[in-house]
Amino acid sequence: MDRHTPVSPFDLDQPALYARWRAAKLASHPRRAEELIVDVADPRALTPTERQAMLALCARTNMAVYRSPVTVEDKALPRLLGQQLGLHRLDANWLADEDGISQIAVSADEEGGPRADFIPYTNRPIKWHTDGYYHPQARRIEGMILHCVRNAGEGGVSGLVDHEMIYLALRDAKPEWVRALMTPDAMTIPARTDENGVARPAQSGPVFYLRPDGGLQMRYTARTRSIEWKNDAVTREAVAFIEQLLAGNPPWLFRLLLQPGMGIVANNVPHERSSFTDDPQQPRLLYRARYLDPVRDERVAAPQEEVAA
Ligand SMILES: [Fe+2]
Repeated sequence: MDRHTPVSPFDLDQPALYARWRAAKLASHPRRAEELIVDVADPRALTPTERQAMLALCARTNMAVYRSPVTVEDKALPRLLGQQLGLHRLDANWLADEDGISQIAVSADEEGGPRADFIPYTNRPIKWHTDGYYHPQARRIEGMILHCVRNAGEGGVSGLVDHEMIYLALRDAKPEWVRALMTPDAMTIPARTDENGVARPAQSGPVFYLRPDGGLQMRYTARTRSIEWKNDAVTREAVAFIEQLLAGNPPWLFRLLLQPGMGIVANNVPHERSSFTDDPQQPRLLYRARYLDPVRDERVAAPQEEVAA
């Protein structure tokens, strides 16, 4: 490590720093899903207090849930909310509408349409994943907003975990698992082909990586199809550990049902969704925005700690 490398608790060679970070993390982590919720009058124009509360939660636990009375269909809402929280670079998903905001609803074109192939556009459960885990490094998704316009008649419960708690559990159990999951070839998404040839090349990447600002990000999917984990014992053990950890409902796994006007802002934390049944009169509709930026407070200069030579 040269003298300009910021010290990081996520460095396996910094056990004392990790111990301090770990103690602070465990002491400050929310105990209940309700602690994630910030009441806001209008997500499109947060008051300074609302904005600070959301930023503070994201800094503490990589996510915040807002609850508002704004239930109108306004696709500008996630974009306007994101701009206040450092989220600017929207990912251009080929299934998103042109403004980069996806409308998540059960697809009408169940037969043959491109969306019918993708679980988000069905009422089926979605396993644990981070958004865009299959993206190349240049388009890593670091921030996301999920805004509920209408909830389902029944079901559609979101599960959320702070990936730093997964990291902590892994490192406590076996630091070698963390090392394995930080290698650049830990996880490979095979190329996806369609009748026209290659639609997406193979993508390899780490499960955990550090952003330039020192923050920890995670790329993950619990899907077993269309994913190749690095074929060594330590990687397989680490992946199995994460699966068991999440299946065991740890106390830091939060479940909540987004009601109309509510939404999630997060540093792309792992999330899942239960299956649901729509009320045909008012089918479930969520807006999803994915960003190449993490949540950050742009109105203060972030101090950066440096290690001495
Ligand atoms: Fe997702």
